[in-house]
Amino acid sequence: MKFKTGTPLDKLLDGGIDSDSVTNIYGPAGSGKTNICMLAARENFRNGGKTLYIDTETNFSFERARQIEPRFEDFMKSIFLKNVYTWKEQHEAIKSLADMNVSLVIVDSLVALYRMEIDDENYQSVNKQLSTQYSILAKLARNRKIPVLVTNQVYSSEGKIEMTSRLISRYWPKTIIELKKTRGDNNRAAIIRKHRSLPEGRFVEFEITSSGLKEIGKFKLF
Ligand SMILES: Nc1ncnc2c1ncn2[C@@H]1O[C@H](COP(=O)(O)OP(=O)(O)OP(=O)(O)O)[C@@H](O)[C@H]1O
Ligand SMILES: [Mg+2]
Repeated sequence: MKFKTGTPLDKLLDGGIDSDSVTNIYGPAGSGKTNICMLAARENFRNGGKTLYIDTETNFSFERARQIEPRFEDFMKSIFLKNVYTWKEQHEAIKSLADMNVSLVIVDSLVALYRMEIDDENYQSVNKQLSTQYSILAKLARNRKIPVLVTNQVYSSEGKIEMTSRLISRYWPKTIIELKKTRGDNNRAAIIRKHRSLPEGRFVEFEITSSGLKEIGKFKLF
């Protein structure tokens, strides 16, 4: 079962993100992660669904929501926006979401507070908590067919771009998408980095516009 996001990801992923697993979108600042989350919530709203949106960086922009959805007031009523400000609050929020009556769960970003929390002494317990959060989200998707979309920051290691919490964040999601800035100020590419039934490296290029994301060009293999 696929969940349509109303973004160029739908074409990239042959219809949308999987409803029974976690999808992880990672990329640098400004690459379009939050845009994709908000547009997926918009698509869900347009199909009559409700979204739980856990925002860990106060990234959700009402201004942007107004730009992408003319029925702004109703759109906002379809979203349970939960702002969390500490790693502990995030952990509690994810642990208590099992019974929520929603058709899409978004965590933007899953690792921003993790990154601030973790240090040389607590890394084992903090990593364990991140794994617990992923396992709760994966179970929610698998058992109740609620698609889960999470975002992930990146860091640079020896010239290579890596996801924060690389091992854990590669293990749990069944789909991983990398976003990259390409030529032009507003152009981005979304590239499949992990998928159960589609080739890694398949990509789509799109532009961030005032009303959403617009696909440009055709997809080919990198
Ligand atoms: N109305 C608009 N028209 C064109 N581009 C826009 C518009 N609104 C936002 N953008 C662009 O979207 C980008 C921000 O995208 P987004 O917030 O989705 O990034 P992100 O990957 O979530 O970044 P971060 O890691 O900082 O959270 C910026 O480059 C911004 O210029
Ligand atoms: Mg963001």
